[in-house]
Amino acid sequence: MYICMCFGITDSAIRHAVEEKGVGNLRELREHLNVGSQCGKCIQMAQQIIDSTIIDESLFKEVC
Ligand code: FES
Repeated sequence: MYICMCFGITDSAIRHAVEEKGVGNLRELREHLNVGSQCGKCIQMAQQIIDSTIIDESLFKEVC
């Protein structure tokens, strides 16, 4: 699903940036993918994806 229409960024691209590149907040995501740096409509959705990916990662670490 596309999250940022201005730059064609999908939810999986955001998850990948969090998991593989250590992105932990919107500022870091913007540095990597430009998300939210044009119209800004995607910011809230992008933040939710960052948060949920971090929560999923921490749950996974507890199991291991
Ligand atoms: S939709 Fe992301 S900056 Fe416009």
